[in-house]
Amino acid sequence: MATGTGSAAGGGRTTEWKALGSRYALLPLRLFLGVTFVYAAFDKLSDAHYLAGAGDPASFYAQTKAAEGSSPVGWALGPALHAPTFFGLLVAFGELAVGLGTLFGLWGRVAALGGALLSASLWLTVSFHTTPYYLGNDLAYLLAWTPLLLAGTPYLSVDGYLAARAARDRARGLAEDAVRRRALLDGGIAAVALGGAGLLSGSLTASFGRDEAPVAAGAGATSPVPQPGPAVPAAQVPVGGSATVKDPASGDAVYIVQPAAGKYAGLSSVCTHSGCAVNPPKDGKLYCPCHGSTFDAATGAVITGPAVKPLPTYAVTRNGDQLELGPQQSS
Ligand code: FES
Repeated sequence: MATGTGSAAGGGRTTEWKALGSRYALLPLRLFLGVTFVYAAFDKLSDAHYLAGAGDPASFYAQTKAAEGSSPVGWALGPALHAPTFFGLLVAFGELAVGLGTLFGLWGRVAALGGALLSASLWLTVSFHTTPYYLGNDLAYLLAWTPLLLAGTPYLSVDGYLAARAARDRARGLAEDAVRRRALLDGGIAAVALGGAGLLSGSLTASFGRDEAPVAAGAGATSPVPQPGPAVPAAQVPVGGSATVKDPASGDAVYIVQPAAGKYAGLSSVCTHSGCAVNPPKDGKLYCPCHGSTFDAATGAVITGPAVKPLPTYAVTRNGDQLELGPQQSS
């Protein structure tokens, strides 16, 4: 008897756990996407290279320009190249809105639609030609948004709270129109509050939280002390940092780096995988945003693929307080 009761109780608990698992099945995905999009937004807003313009290979403009020739929607990128600051901020704040909406579960389907559209845009412009396709992140993100787009964010969320309250309103006989109006109004107030907090924190980050401004030489440079030609003041290349010059032969951007005190080198910014512009050195590495290759900031060697060839290197000589780019040493 006791055994039968015990096994019935155990079976009941298993069923409860299974039901709980099904109910919250999308929560890990929701948290991951929400945190990732918020992080990506602040990463852009705090990056001085992101809005630096044509002279910086890591800028939104340069990346969009690079995509113009190869993307299947390259013909549609004209407005973004015309107003790169506006569109760059639109992408960053769009990611922030999507991330916050997803994390808080506020208008979850709308947030998921925004996330899917952003991921689709990045897939079509940045990682469309990734081979094999599974190395490209953006297609995976696009598909990851699909379950949230279908199911919304009904649990542990503002949407869930509003839905439960609407059910209570209906139960106490409130007219359907009034129930909907109340839910829409309160959802709108929550969206304005959350959007305002996002806008404020994003604007503060963009205004005061940005990394040191990039130093660039040549056309389109925004350096406060611009230097024509392939040379920059040594003071503007700190240990671990970089300045950008142009290879006069190819026109490609080259990073002059100082991986250790007094040791200088030039590294091509052109990724050896598929030709995207790698980001400037950070924490001893150069990262390619297209498919995630990383290169050693001292030697250009590949740390992680899919790239297999190191970045081409250049000689750099110090003349007084100037660093001059020499000839390419490896290709
Ligand atoms: S272009 Fe593919 S990793 Fe850089």
